[in-house]
Amino acid sequence: MVASAHADSTAGAAGEQPRARRVVLAYSGGVDTSVCIPYLRNEWGVQEVITFAADLGQGDELEPIRRKALDSGASQSIVGDLIEPFIREFAFPAIRANALYEGRYPLSTALARPLIARRLVEIAREVGADAVAHGCTGKGNDQVRFDVAIAALAPELRVLAPAREWGMSREETIAYGERCGIPAPVSKKSPYSIDLNLLGRSIEAGSLEDPNVEPPEEIYALTRSIEATPEAPQTVEIGFEQGNPVSLDGERLDPVSLVRRANELAGLHGFGRLDMVENRVVGIKSREIYETPGLLLLIKAHQELESLTLAADVLRTKRQLEMQWADLVYQGLWFGPLKQALDAFIDTTQACVNGTVRVKLHRGNATVVGRSSGADSLYVPDMATYGAEDQFDHRAAEGFIYVWGLPTRLWAARRRGR
Ligand code: ARG
Repeated sequence: MVASAHADSTAGAAGEQPRARRVVLAYSGGVDTSVCIPYLRNEWGVQEVITFAADLGQGDELEPIRRKALDSGASQSIVGDLIEPFIREFAFPAIRANALYEGRYPLSTALARPLIARRLVEIAREVGADAVAHGCTGKGNDQVRFDVAIAALAPELRVLAPAREWGMSREETIAYGERCGIPAPVSKKSPYSIDLNLLGRSIEAGSLEDPNVEPPEEIYALTRSIEATPEAPQTVEIGFEQGNPVSLDGERLDPVSLVRRANELAGLHGFGRLDMVENRVVGIKSREIYETPGLLLLIKAHQELESLTLAADVLRTKRQLEMQWADLVYQGLWFGPLKQALDAFIDTTQACVNGTVRVKLHRGNATVVGRSSGADSLYVPDMATYGAEDQFDHRAAEGFIYVWGLPTRLWAARRRGR
């Protein structure tokens, strides 16, 4: 049998080798990650659990979360604002890549994980931890993203995933927590599992597990229902420089403010909801609801500006590579070699993606109604026009078509038996 990283450390009966002495735990304040704290200490013999909770613009109060970790037995509770790097280093590259997993999901959750992992590793090194931990279960994508990212950044650190091994149901988890002094969730627990950050929300579980059941209106928080959207359409002009969004309606905004504003605008008009069955890394299909209003709006506008500014062959090639970029980010390979290679390609293409796109928001739709790019536009009016200024040499088309169609004509002639 091959020794695994965990082989020396199964469960914590007294006298067994502990898995780790000092552990940095990714902490959200929820039941699972809270229970991880006493579990790591009591069952796995961890001496010190240091929690880290990231502010990714989810809008939660962080001070109660910080205190809850201490109340749950953490020896140190760290909170950190990661909003700015989240948008600048993770969301904007995704916009430049027009990243849509399986053509639809803009990776709002997936993009956050490598950043959290990066910060966990930094903290682990600062505090001299020998392991990091997370509360992901064994059937989601997030465990893959954390584990691979941490392994890539810090191979010397162990990754502990108690919820992957403890085999407790939700009720058992809550009961375990109560025995350790962790209060059960006060309000009657929502049946949904929600992940939230500045890029959007993902909603799973409860009645949504039946892919044939329509999502109830109550699950949405960032987007209005069509019925509640304003009657009047609203057009927004999005400015881009080198593929990055930089302004809304002519006003230059820092990346975080820009995404916030895009969320508000698109959400107000009911744009950005998604109901899909997606293929998880671990091989199962799951039904997921997302609302990612700003991110979807920005990707849509960005794609449009590329249609004006990228050469045809570059655009086609990029569209193919974008799928691979989305796949690898979804699959937890942010710190891998393909990501680097694709980023180099994408960066090269984005130098000329400068200009503005106008999008009309109305009743759940975002419709592009205009695009413009000064010197970077490859749209040549003299070539495109049907008016008198037309400079296109129509007669040249004949010779081109002769050569272009030659293989087809030869093949068709053979089939006719000549
Ligand atoms: N299915 C989405 C993804 O894999 C959302 C996952 C939400 N994660 C969570 N822990 N609730 O990116």
